[in-house]
Amino acid sequence: MADHSPSVPLLSMQNIHKSFGEVDVLQAIDFNVTDNEIIALVGDNGAGKSTLIKIITGVHPPTSGDIFFKGQKITKHSVSRSRSLGIETVYQERALADQQTLWRNVFAGRELTRKFGFLKVKEQRAETQNLIRKHMGFTSKAINTESMVLSLSGGEKQGVAIGRALYFEADLIILDEPTMGLSLSETKKVLDFVQNIKDQGKSAIFISHNIYYVYPVADRFVILDRGRIAGEFCKKDISQDELVEKMVRLARTGSLN
Ligand SMILES: Nc1ncnc2c1ncn2[C@@H]1O[C@H](COP(=O)(O)OP(=O)(O)OP(=O)(O)O)[C@@H](O)[C@H]1O
Ligand SMILES: [Mg+2]
Repeated sequence: MADHSPSVPLLSMQNIHKSFGEVDVLQAIDFNVTDNEIIALVGDNGAGKSTLIKIITGVHPPTSGDIFFKGQKITKHSVSRSRSLGIETVYQERALADQQTLWRNVFAGRELTRKFGFLKVKEQRAETQNLIRKHMGFTSKAINTESMVLSLSGGEKQGVAIGRALYFEADLIILDEPTMGLSLSETKKVLDFVQNIKDQGKSAIFISHNIYYVYPVADRFVILDRGRIAGEFCKKDISQDELVEKMVRLARTGSLN
């Protein structure tokens, strides 16, 4: 459930600028995410998509501009602060530790402990089992709490990372190219996991170069072009083909229209 007024966006970025040295990478960005909304953030290589999400997740401070989460202005932003506010990021790589079991990965850095720091191993295994069933929807019988992450497919790894974010009750899950390097069937799995985020009442920002992947799961499309927001469209106002056409036109002419 939302713990802020429904009229307040979950995330609101206002007039965000970001420069690296002399180079302006983001300019005058106004960007909102509402409750239970899946946003597709699209745009060419170097448009500034990853930089924008790194500002949300506290990796980079904005050069100027304000960020509000659940109506509260974020000051002194950092990666751990964004996590504690309920923002989780799922990357293609580096999300999980390959040489560890699934249950250890789920609780990495957030272990359930008893007094004196003893690990609640049994509880962590049981919770992971629950998570595999409830949030990950794995169909493969080969997967259980003791599975080594190394043995999971790329799509399944993304599923663990997304399931973990849901378990820790992230309100906003950010996926930066989560389907990169995955086969079609693996991509389908990841898209199902994104749908799961929506079904659980949470929100997501999904970055992808492939409109065909994001179109079915997204509610709104935000197009970033050379550091600026070139346009935004709600799904009801634009078909998949029209959106692709606009992206092609933008790449060719520098304008959406
Ligand atoms: N730490 C940094 N220092 C200097 N320049 C950077 C830094 N990070 C990103 N940039 C520059 O900012 C611009 C935007 O990069 P960003 O990674 O945000 O693009 P992107 O939209 O995610 O691209 P892609 O689709 O290729 O992932 C690029 O020109 C990039 O070179
Ligand atoms: Mg990027």
